[in-house]
Amino acid sequence: MLKSDWFTNARFGLFLHWGLYAIPAKGEWTYAKDKWLPGEYECLIHQFNPVDYDPAEWARMAKAAGMRYVVLTTRHHDGFCMFDSHYTDYKITNTPYAKDVTRMLVEAFRAAGLKVGFYHSLPDWTHPGYADRESPEFIQRGELHTPTPEQHRDYLNLLYNHVEQLMTEYGKIDLLFFDYCSQYKAGEDYFERDRLLEMVYRHQPEIMVDDRLAYYKDNVRDFDYYTPEICVPNQPQMVKNKPVVWETCATMNDHWGYFRTDFNYKPVESLTAGLIGCVSQNGNLLLNIGPDECGCFPKPAVTRLKELADWFLDNGEAVAGCGKSKFQAPFGCCYTQKGKVIYCYFLIQPIGDVILPQLKGKIETITLLRTHEAVEMINNWGFELLNADEQRIRPENVRVGDVLKITLK
Ligand code: GLC
Repeated sequence: MLKSDWFTNARFGLFLHWGLYAIPAKGEWTYAKDKWLPGEYECLIHQFNPVDYDPAEWARMAKAAGMRYVVLTTRHHDGFCMFDSHYTDYKITNTPYAKDVTRMLVEAFRAAGLKVGFYHSLPDWTHPGYADRESPEFIQRGELHTPTPEQHRDYLNLLYNHVEQLMTEYGKIDLLFFDYCSQYKAGEDYFERDRLLEMVYRHQPEIMVDDRLAYYKDNVRDFDYYTPEICVPNQPQMVKNKPVVWETCATMNDHWGYFRTDFNYKPVESLTAGLIGCVSQNGNLLLNIGPDECGCFPKPAVTRLKELADWFLDNGEAVAGCGKSKFQAPFGCCYTQKGKVIYCYFLIQPIGDVILPQLKGKIETITLLRTHEAVEMINNWGFELLNADEQRIRPENVRVGDVLKITLK
């Protein structure tokens, strides 16, 4: 048993970017990218009141969509805490809503049988002890202050204390997603990562911690998992020539945090293809939703979750517990595999028969998961030149996103 087993088995999780930035609704970087008067953004704390927040309903939707864990932004780069921090007043319990939304989420998702993870930002744009070129002062005014050693120590203590509270007051936490060490801090130990990690593992020995405590090219130590972003890698991720546990995070539209006018949602076929693509290279997909200021998922996100749920009902067995197949997928398809079963996902609707490389004589049965219909193997077709190890098959009524279950002898 490895501590990562639940994670590599789960394959699919829900990422939630939620904070004060849901009110202006221009994404979670609005504090850095848009023009705010001094103190104006911070005043949103007096407005945040997500009265429709219903984490049990979120958990139900996520679970139906095939997701097996959730990761919530407990604090993003704006420094605002979505939990009842003992160390700052800039927190959810000082809003009109006044409740600890993190605790509510943890309880609801756990009750639904999902694993629970926390995202926690390393950058704190509001703290004088943190300075970086990817911060509002530099992005907006080209300025970069230099924190005094005392200020930086203060920043580090706050980060440490926040994380320690999250690791000790919310029960068993399955995953911790630190974000991020910028390129300007490459080669540095700006966050005192070993001190942080020692504390995290002391309280949560089973927890999975991501790689973003270091600049991703630095290779300073082994992390529990690695985090490519908004892409599907073409091969299993390797660090120091060894395959590693990994998860791609991606957005349903073009932003992490709620963005009122971003309706550019990917079709469900792209989402299932991206998921299968990650699984086919032994990775996970963490799919993001940015809830709005009322505590609701945007409507198009709810639609996507329902569509995913429909797809999962038929095809979910191609995801959980699956990984890379050693066989080459046919034209227009992508494989995942679990033991003797290959799952063949259709990226396109085929023009006709499908030719499976390397599988001649190896197949016991083939069925189309959505219809449970058996798929015919064509053994005496004369027009094409097949390699001796290729098997021609004739799946009927295949749509994009369909999956064949190919059971090997
Ligand atoms: C990037 C973005 C950040 C987001 C994260 C998710 O680091 O800067 O806003 O939370 O990606 O992985």
